[in-house]
Amino acid sequence: MGRPIYLDYAATSAIRPDVVVEAVNDYLRGVGATPGRSGHRWAVEAARVAFQCRRALAGLFGIPGDPGRIAFQQNATHALNTALWGTLTSGDTVVRTRYDHNAVRRPIAALRRTGVREVVLGGQPDGAVDLDELAEAFGSGGNEVRLLVVTHASNVLGSVLPLAEMSEIAHDHGALVLVDAAQTAGILPIDAVGQGIDMLAFTGHKGLLGPQGIGGLWIREGLEVSPLLRGGTGGHSELEEMPDIMPDRLEAGTQNGAGMAGLLAGVEWLLAEGVESLHSREMRLKTMLLERLSEIAGIHIHSPPAPDGVGIVTITCAGLNAAELAHSLDLDYGILTRAGLHCAPEAHALLGTLETGALRLSVGWATNEDDIERATAGVAAVCKTRAEER
Ligand code: ALA
Repeated sequence: MGRPIYLDYAATSAIRPDVVVEAVNDYLRGVGATPGRSGHRWAVEAARVAFQCRRALAGLFGIPGDPGRIAFQQNATHALNTALWGTLTSGDTVVRTRYDHNAVRRPIAALRRTGVREVVLGGQPDGAVDLDELAEAFGSGGNEVRLLVVTHASNVLGSVLPLAEMSEIAHDHGALVLVDAAQTAGILPIDAVGQGIDMLAFTGHKGLLGPQGIGGLWIREGLEVSPLLRGGTGGHSELEEMPDIMPDRLEAGTQNGAGMAGLLAGVEWLLAEGVESLHSREMRLKTMLLERLSEIAGIHIHSPPAPDGVGIVTITCAGLNAAELAHSLDLDYGILTRAGLHCAPEAHALLGTLETGALRLSVGWATNEDDIERATAGVAAVCKTRAEER
C-alpha cells in the first residue's frame, strides 16, 4: 500500500516541516521552563521564544503595534470563546453566517440563554454572502449590533467569505468584527488592518503547521475583552482581579511553551516559503483533485467548483455512506480523510448533506500530484466496488 496519503489538513497538519518537530524537541530538551514564570535563565529563554512567536505572528497577519496584543490560547475554539464571552453581554446582538463552525455556533447558543440576541444570515451552497442581507441585519435588530463574526473560510465548502466588504458594513454600523481564521491562518494572506479585523482567532495546528494545543487571539489596540479564565499570570500577583495589561489579561495559568516553540518554527517556515506561493500550489492541487473526482461515476462534488479559496473538496458517493467511504479509503488504500458533519451542521444543511454527512478531502503543504492521482484512484475503486455490490 505504501505510505499513507494524508488528505485531512483542514483538521490538522499532521505532517509538519522537520524544523517544527525539531523546535519542539529542542525546547523540551534545552529550555523546558515556562514563559512569564520565574526569572532564571531557562525561564528567560522561554519568554524569548514566546516574544519571538508573537512577533512572527504579528508579521504574518499584518498586525501593527504591540505583538503583546496577541494572547496565546489553546486553539481557535478557545480564542473564539474568549472573544465572544469577553465582548457580548445581555441585550447585545451578534450577527453571523451559516458557514460557522460549532466553535462559533455553540458559544453563541449559550450566550443566547444569557440574553444575547443572534441574527444568522441565509447562506448558499456556493458559499456566497448576500451583502444586502448583511446590511439589513444591522438595520433590523431592535438592539444595537455589537459584533459580526466572520468565518474567513468554510471548513466544509472550502470557499472564502468577502471579509473586507463584510467588515466595512459592520464598521459602518458601529459593530466589531471577530474573524475565525481557523482555516485560513497560514493558508491565505491576512491583513488585520486592511481587512478591518478587530479580533482575530486562530489555531496553530492547521495552516500554521505547529503542534496541537497552541493558538491565539489578537485584539486591536483600544478594545477591551474580559477574561474567560482567571488565575495566575506570573506578575501583578497582589491583585484580586486579572491584570488589565495584555497579554496577561487573557493568559491565566501555565502556558504551552513547547507549543509556542513549534508554532514559531512553523510561522518562520511559512514566512520563508511565502504564503501566496504555497497557496497557489495548493490551488493547483485542488483544481487537479476537482478534475479527477469529476471523472468518477457516482461521485457528487458538493464544494463550489471554483478552484480558489482553501484546499478543501467535499463529496458524497451514490449509495455509500460517507463514514464507510472514509473507512474503506483508510483501510484498503491508506488514504486519510474526514467524514461526517465536520462540526459545521449549518454548512452541511446548505449543501443538502446534513442527514448523510459527506467526505472531505483537504490538501496541504506536503501534498503532491502523485497523492492526488493515488487518492482519486482509491475513491474511484471504492465507489466502483460498491456500485457492483448493489
Ligand atoms: N474544525 C476542524 C475540521 O474542520 C477540526 O476538521
